[in-house]
Amino acid sequence: MLKEILDQEKRHFIQIYNRIPLDISHGQGVHLFDKDGKKYLDMFSGLGVNALGYSHPRIIEAVTKQINRFAHLSNNYITDIQIEFSEKLLHYSGKSKIFLTNSGTEAVEAAVKLIRMKYGADKNIYSLTNSFHGRTYAAMTLTGKDKYKKGFEPLVQNIFQIDFNNILDLERKINGNTAAVFLEFIQGEGGINEVSHEFVYELKKLHEKYDFIIVSDGIQCGTGRTGKAYSHSYYDIDPDIIVTAKAIGGGLPLGAIMVSEELSDIIPLGKHGTTFGGNPISCAAGKVVLEEVYENGLMNYVAEIGDYFKNELLVLKSKYSDLIKDVRGKGLMLGIEMSFTCSNLVKDLFNKSILSNCTNENAIRLLPPLIISKSDLDFFLYNFEELLKTGNYGT
Ligand SMILES: Cc1ncc(COP(=O)(O)O)c(C=O)c1O
Repeated sequence: MLKEILDQEKRHFIQIYNRIPLDISHGQGVHLFDKDGKKYLDMFSGLGVNALGYSHPRIIEAVTKQINRFAHLSNNYITDIQIEFSEKLLHYSGKSKIFLTNSGTEAVEAAVKLIRMKYGADKNIYSLTNSFHGRTYAAMTLTGKDKYKKGFEPLVQNIFQIDFNNILDLERKINGNTAAVFLEFIQGEGGINEVSHEFVYELKKLHEKYDFIIVSDGIQCGTGRTGKAYSHSYYDIDPDIIVTAKAIGGGLPLGAIMVSEELSDIIPLGKHGTTFGGNPISCAAGKVVLEEVYENGLMNYVAEIGDYFKNELLVLKSKYSDLIKDVRGKGLMLGIEMSFTCSNLVKDLFNKSILSNCTNENAIRLLPPLIISKSDLDFFLYNFEELLKTGNYGT
């Protein structure tokens, strides 16, 4: 059955994804089950999407209730559920106005359009090297890794990168001709890298001096994943724009750009739009996510359990210092930088019924559902150490 579905995929699909060899029957909590009933611990939750795990009863209830009312209305209408979701999201993000999208890249794209509308095309927009902001043209141009861009030129003009955490490069590039700086305060795809406090301090100083926009990309590192609402919440900074997506839809497609009051009327009526963005079913699920994360204690749990997990990983780092180069991140957004390419380790974890993700060649990226229990984390730690003990990886 597995072979058949993988063969069908090869026959029918443009070969863009390297699929994990699994024919999944269903998910429950933090586990996925294949069609033979085998259970897998999901340590990357659909790339940081399934914050409440699988088949969460409150999500099922909210989605069912909404689909019985209507699945979709055009954005010619405003719907109560969009309002209920957006009010909460704005409240917990500290921003004034919102535009809803289907995905992260669309939220980034909307931010670039707003910035262009305000400053014109001649001013420069920056992101950081090693960053990831999405796959559409402006988002791809912002993405600070050539491998995602090569062959797609010409890219969007006047978008450049600043060297990650390089204050001299920041000072050299930011000036009166700067329109915006995009940052993932903790880079996800780039291998879980935290922007330094010194870098943010300098950025803030420049922001006071020059008129430009700071955009926090909280698409992966938002929604309580790091133990705070956004990874920028760990810094003394109030970004002008926040973009978010992934976990906020509870597994359904949903994204948002949120702006401060001064930016709320830059895009004129009719100049931007989307058919599906802010879909009512996604908003119904998203509202449950926001309630669980911010109102029912999940975010505080993530901060606590994340500390436990990181400390245990640091113990492993000191025991296996030849294999583990670094442990980084906050909350349940953690990266283990190995001293070797980690694809084989991911395969070995898979054979121990653990689904994990390797990014940036040598970093195991851990983004488990936020509801994961201590005993499930211990299951990961035990099996991970068993593999390190075999010493099969070398350096
Ligand atoms: C930080 C960040 N920004 C933007 C995106 C793009 O989001 P999407 O895949 O929903 O378009 C991603 C996706 O991985 C991301 O991690």
